Amino acid sequence: MCGIVGYIGDKKAVEFLLEGLTKLEYRGYDSAGIAVNCGVNIFVEKAVGRLDALKEKLKNREPEGTVGIGHTRWATHGRPSDLNAHPHTDCTGKFVVVHNGIIENYMSLKEDLISRGHKFISETDTEVVPHLLEEVYKGDFIGAVREVLNKIEGSYSLVFMSKDNPETLICAKQDNPLVVGLGKGENFIASDIPAIISKTRDTYILNDGEIAIVKKDSVKIINRRGEDVQKKVFRVTWNAEAAEKGGYEHFMLKEIHEQPKAVRDTMSERVLKDGSAIVMEELHWDKNFLDSINKIYIVACGTAYHAGLVGKFYIEKLARKLVEVDLASEYRYRDPIVDEKTLVIVISQSGETSDTLAALKESKRLGAKTLAVTNVVGSSIAREADQVVYTWAGPEIAVASTKAYTTQLILMFMLALYMAQIQKTVSPERTRELIELLKKIPAQISETLSDVDPIKTFARQYGFNEDVFYIGRSLDYDVALEGALKLKEISYIHAEAYASGELKHGTLALIVEGVPVIALATQKSVYEKTLSNIKEVKARDAVVIGIAAAGDTELEKYLDHVIFVPETDELLIPLLTVVPLQLLAYYAAITRGCDVDKPRNLAKSVTVE
Ligand code: G6P
Repeated sequence: MCGIVGYIGDKKAVEFLLEGLTKLEYRGYDSAGIAVNCGVNIFVEKAVGRLDALKEKLKNREPEGTVGIGHTRWATHGRPSDLNAHPHTDCTGKFVVVHNGIIENYMSLKEDLISRGHKFISETDTEVVPHLLEEVYKGDFIGAVREVLNKIEGSYSLVFMSKDNPETLICAKQDNPLVVGLGKGENFIASDIPAIISKTRDTYILNDGEIAIVKKDSVKIINRRGEDVQKKVFRVTWNAEAAEKGGYEHFMLKEIHEQPKAVRDTMSERVLKDGSAIVMEELHWDKNFLDSINKIYIVACGTAYHAGLVGKFYIEKLARKLVEVDLASEYRYRDPIVDEKTLVIVISQSGETSDTLAALKESKRLGAKTLAVTNVVGSSIAREADQVVYTWAGPEIAVASTKAYTTQLILMFMLALYMAQIQKTVSPERTRELIELLKKIPAQISETLSDVDPIKTFARQYGFNEDVFYIGRSLDYDVALEGALKLKEISYIHAEAYASGELKHGTLALIVEGVPVIALATQKSVYEKTLSNIKEVKARDAVVIGIAAAGDTELEKYLDHVIFVPETDELLIPLLTVVPLQLLAYYAAITRGCDVDKPRNLAKSVTVE
């Protein structure tokens, strides 16, 4: 997704701009650009493709100016191109803007501006903004920006630069993240903290409706009415290294290996020392609250949606509450039956996913109680929800989500058990037993990670197949969905997951000799049925790789390859079975020479629809 940086100080702006944009590369982008105020004019350079293309264009002609803005774009309005890349300028080149988000009323604004003689050169929605600024500017930069903000509708983080006001950068936030980094004699602007963390740890995290007036030695925050806003400095505590690869070839592999720690961190303060109960300090729910809820929705996108499917299973099984799971992009437009007796749980790693945020807002509008499960403290979703529980996975950089998923699973499990304690739907003995097993999970993930050679071999052997199928029943099916998503995201192999029981209703027609099928068979309650589904595909000469719990002696009788994960309760086993599937996807992508951390067409954080 788009990234924004800005600099104002005494140093050459271009140096920070390029460094900051590099730190934001993980968000995914298709073009990049910078603008630097050089006094006589504003220097603008942009290039489609990777940042290296921009750097190449800047070779031997880097601007000297000390005020600048930069952007990495992920195309929404208009294809990726030099012209559509940001920054965008007005007709005179005096006003320059970078933008994340969507200006929803840009068409009517554009028509109006064209009728007034403005010349547009891009297909973007953003370009209306500098032209509007040109239109309303009468010498008061801040006043003009406020006027522009009153004219535009939609979501944005915006940074404005004006040739005639070289001492000021102005930025504004609505539904898209924006931070101001506070330096000494210099200040920084960025859409995300990793861009500025090597420069400063003191930041202002802007809220919706806030405008920051950033000079080299002062930052003033005002609201849309122009009134001063008193903000607390937010000190970033995570270190820059945490956002770097730490010796692994790719962020994804690093993050896969971070799962034992991430899962441990997420559960650590939420399990009572004596192992008798789950504590959710953040929630303080009681029986009255849960009795007032007659339906739960879990709403999310992508991998978080898959975590939601497992979450539904947990809550229904343990807390005996009715749960529906929905994709945020569907839910928000389908008039869901939601009222004050509904609890809506949104799951989002980034806390910024546009559809999830919109679904959350819609749920609130309909009167629902809302809970966010997210990994990013202070994210838009975290701030919007009535209550929030954080996964403590640490920053996740790779586009393909791994440790966010397992921490979401752990959190949903603990949430379900916490609800079950209140509802008394699970006996104290069973609670103890589950907590005992829960505590073993980090070590068991490590154990699963220690034996990657067979997975590498399978990846090499089958990495060039065009189609791969994943099958499973019950929770195995939910994990199969995530496994298939991982494979298609990063290796571009066509991968589909099917509930094993559905095979004979269509998919079996696709199973022919040599087609790889990954079969998960860990759910004891449906084991026999799973086994007969596996025999069905095997009978069609598919190459079946089984995923089973240690101690399973049955599966090996029928399959050439079985990957074993440590034994645990069938509720908790998704935390283990997903690991070989993540690794399989990773090594298949490596086999095919794919750009693992930045898969084509995909972005880490999808902050536009
Ligand atoms: C994008 C990412 C996925 C992620 C999804 C939802 O598609 O590439 O990895 O699962 O967004 O993101 P969220 O931050 O809301 O969990």
